[in-house]
Amino acid sequence: MTDQTRKLRSAEWFGSADKNGFMYRSWMKNQGIPDHEFAGKPIIGICNTWSELTPCNAHFRKLAEHVKRGIYEAGGFPVEFPVFSNGESNLRPTAMFTRNLASMDVEESIRGNPIDAVVLLAGCDKTTPALLMGAASCDVPAILVTGGPMLNGKHEGHDIGSGTVVWQLSEAVKAGRISLDEFMSAEAGMSRSAGTCNTMGTASTMACMAEALGVTLPHNAAIPAVDARRYVMAHLSGMRIVEMVWDDLRLSKLLTRAAFENAIRVNAAIGGSTNAAIHLKAIAGRVGVPLELDDWTRIGRHTPTLVDLQPSGRFLMEEFYYAGGLPAVLRRMGEAGLLPHPDALTANGKTLWDNVRAAPNYNDEVIRPLDNPLVADGGLCVLRGNLAPNGAVLKPSAATPELLKHRGRAVVFENLEDYKARIADPALDVDATSVLVMKNCGPKGYPGMAEVGNMGLPPKLLREGVKDMVRISDARMSGTAYGTVVLHVAPEARAGGPLAVVRDGDWIELDCETGRLHLDITDADMAARLAQWKAAQQTLPADTSGYRKLYVEHVLQADEGCDFDFLVGCRGAEVPRHSH
Ligand code: FES
Repeated sequence: MTDQTRKLRSAEWFGSADKNGFMYRSWMKNQGIPDHEFAGKPIIGICNTWSELTPCNAHFRKLAEHVKRGIYEAGGFPVEFPVFSNGESNLRPTAMFTRNLASMDVEESIRGNPIDAVVLLAGCDKTTPALLMGAASCDVPAILVTGGPMLNGKHEGHDIGSGTVVWQLSEAVKAGRISLDEFMSAEAGMSRSAGTCNTMGTASTMACMAEALGVTLPHNAAIPAVDARRYVMAHLSGMRIVEMVWDDLRLSKLLTRAAFENAIRVNAAIGGSTNAAIHLKAIAGRVGVPLELDDWTRIGRHTPTLVDLQPSGRFLMEEFYYAGGLPAVLRRMGEAGLLPHPDALTANGKTLWDNVRAAPNYNDEVIRPLDNPLVADGGLCVLRGNLAPNGAVLKPSAATPELLKHRGRAVVFENLEDYKARIADPALDVDATSVLVMKNCGPKGYPGMAEVGNMGLPPKLLREGVKDMVRISDARMSGTAYGTVVLHVAPEARAGGPLAVVRDGDWIELDCETGRLHLDITDADMAARLAQWKAAQQTLPADTSGYRKLYVEHVLQADEGCDFDFLVGCRGAEVPRHSH
C-alpha cells in the first residue's frame, strides 16, 4: 500500500541533525549533492555489473544513466555502485565459480549502505541469479533490468546464434566439412552489437525467468540491447522502483512459491536453459521458498515448447521480441490454462495475467500455437537412479528423440583433461552407441561446475556422420548448446557420487520417459566400488586456499542450487550489531 510517510531505511543514516548525520551527509556532499536530496527522498541503489571484461554488460553505464533519469523523475535519489561482474566468456575457471561470491558482494553492499531499494543491472548468465540472490537475502524492494540480447549474428548471408554456431562450426571443422579459416571468419559476425547472447541461452533464459517471476517490468527479457526501447525500459524501471519503496513492495512479496511454479512452466515453454534449474533453486533458497528438482517434473513436464529459438529451434532473440516477446508467450499459456498462477504479483503492482492478457503475437512461427509446438513435451527431464541418486537433468528439446531411451556401454573420462587427451585418439574404443561419461566436473570437482557437459563427439565418429551421442557428467552445459546430454549428476563424482565409480564398458540405461538413469551393476558391486573409491580419497589438496577453499568446502550440490551452505536464507536488511 502506498504510504509516502513511511519511515525510510536511509533515514537511519541521513535523517538526523547530529554528529552521525553530519558525517554521513558531509562525505556524500563531496560529490556535489545539495541538501534537499537528503530530505526524505527514497535513496535508490543502482547495482551495476558493468565491466569491460564482461562484454555482455559493457553498455551498462549508459543503461544506468537512463535508470537515474527515471528515479529523479519519480522523486527519488539514485546512487550507483559497482559489484563483482562475473562474465561468462572470459572468467576462469568458470563464471559459475564466482556466482556466489558476486551474490555476497551484492548482499553486503545493499545491507551496509544507506539505500531504500535497488535497481539490479544484470545480463550475462550468472550476473542475473547473483544479483537476485544477493538482493533476496536482504529483502528490500528491488527491480531487475537486464541489458538485452545482441542483434542477430550475421555470417555469409545467414543469421548465426551466439554460442550455438560455435558448437556447430567447431564440430564441422572436426568432421572435415569446413576449413579452420571458414570457421574463424564467423567470429566477428557472431557478436556485432552490445548485449547478451542472442540465443535462448542461459542469459536470455534467466531474463525470461526474471520476467516470469515478476521481478521486472513486462517485456524486459527480449528487447534488444541496442533498441531505444531498452533504455525506455530502464527509465520506467527507475520510476517504478521509487513507487515500490512507498508500496513496501519487497522481493519476498514477488518471489513466492507461486512465482517459481510459473517460472518452471515458462522455462519449458521457451525451451530454456538447464542452468535455470540450478539458479531458480538458489534464488528460492534465499527467500525460504521450498523448491525441489522433482518440481521440474511435476510442474514442467508435458508443457509444450512454443518458442522456436536456437539452440532448440530456428530463430534468435531479435525475432522473439518482434514477435511479441515473453508477454505473448504468457498470454498463449494463460489462455490454454498452462500458467499455474496467473494471479501472481509482479513488480509493477499488477498480476502476471493483467500484464499479458492483451499481449499481441505477431509471428506464429517464432511463438508457435499450442497445436503446433516446437516440442510437444518441452519440460526438463529429471532423471534418477543408482547413477544419480539425487538427480540429474536433460533437456529433451535440445536432444535427439531416438536417444532419449538408450542403452550403451560407457566410455569413461576421469576428468576434462583426460577427455581432451583421448577424445581424438583413433584407437579410442567407442562407437555411435557408446555413452560418453565424464567425471569430476561438478561443483567441487572442477571446481565451479564448468559448462563442459556437451563434450564434443570423437572426431572419427563425426567423420562417419554421427551427429549426437548420449553423454553423462556432473558438469553443466551452456544454454546455447544442444545434444542428448545428461547433466548435473548428483552427488557429483568428487563428492563420492556413484558417477565416481563408473568404469569403461559398464552398461548404462537412460530412459527419459520414466526418468531413469541406471548403471547396470549389482548393488553389492556398487557398494564395493564406492568403498574402494572412498579409501583412495584424500581431503582437499594441500595447496587449496583462498576463495577456492571456501568454495569447495561450502558449495552445495547441483540439486541444491550450488549455493554456499551458509548463504541459504533471508537475513533481512537490518545491519546486525553484536555486543561483546
Ligand atoms: Fe554473456 Fe552469453 S557470454 S550472455
